[in-house]
Amino acid sequence: MFVLSEHDLRVFPNLETLSHGVAVLFSDLVKEKVHERGEFLLVLSGGSTPQMLYRLLSAPPHSTNIPWKKIHFFWGDERCVPPQSNKSNFKQAHQLLLSKVNVLDENVHRIKGELEPENAARDYQQTLTKVAPNNRTYPRFDLVFLGLGSDGHTASLFPGKMSPLETQEPVIAVKGDYQGRPANRVTLTPIAINNAANVMFLVSGKDKAKALKETITGDRDLKSLPAQRIQPSDGNLMWIVDKAAASEL
Ligand code: 6PG
Repeated sequence: MFVLSEHDLRVFPNLETLSHGVAVLFSDLVKEKVHERGEFLLVLSGGSTPQMLYRLLSAPPHSTNIPWKKIHFFWGDERCVPPQSNKSNFKQAHQLLLSKVNVLDENVHRIKGELEPENAARDYQQTLTKVAPNNRTYPRFDLVFLGLGSDGHTASLFPGKMSPLETQEPVIAVKGDYQGRPANRVTLTPIAINNAANVMFLVSGKDKAKALKETITGDRDLKSLPAQRIQPSDGNLMWIVDKAAASEL
């Protein structure tokens, strides 16, 4: 059995209360880390689940009491579309949050979806190397937000794609077919994600209940359930879900 201890799982009544709860958790974590180190390395996720969270963070009290200028923004994955496209994870975060709070442009490290997938992955790898400590090719992120697909994928780590997932690369280009979303993508791999200090899965909705149950309580099956590969080596893993998503636990 592959069971997480209870304290890693936090269940909220619905997406709205989940989003409010995560906004407070995020705000507290940023202030703590910025007080300690003067910066915060944040990985944003795409998809629809974090949209309410981004909107909450873009308005008072969070828009005024989080040290936005101290945060470096990265993405867990990106679709290979131009940054102006409505399918772009960067566009979504920029429209809902980054354009509304006091971030520094030089701290926004988007994946260049306008490039060919392999070139976009190479460019993002260079970005990660630049912000990493000397002997590393990727930094230790302070917080990685992840979603979960109803097929068990996370970021752009899709079921059945065993070979890329065995990679030692922190960033790869992949193809993933899901809900008609763009197929060509760039994604962080478990190598980079598992080095983070904190990883928060945000999961909402009945359509995720089966994938959530199988991922956190089912047998270990890394090929069919890539989110099971997310096990921070020296960090906190939290599953922050709503009642509908938790309905099969
Ligand atoms: C993407 C996301 C992806 C997402 C899941 C869940 O590029 O689509 O990064 O991994 O988090 O597919 O998506 P929803 O939140 O829309 O259910």
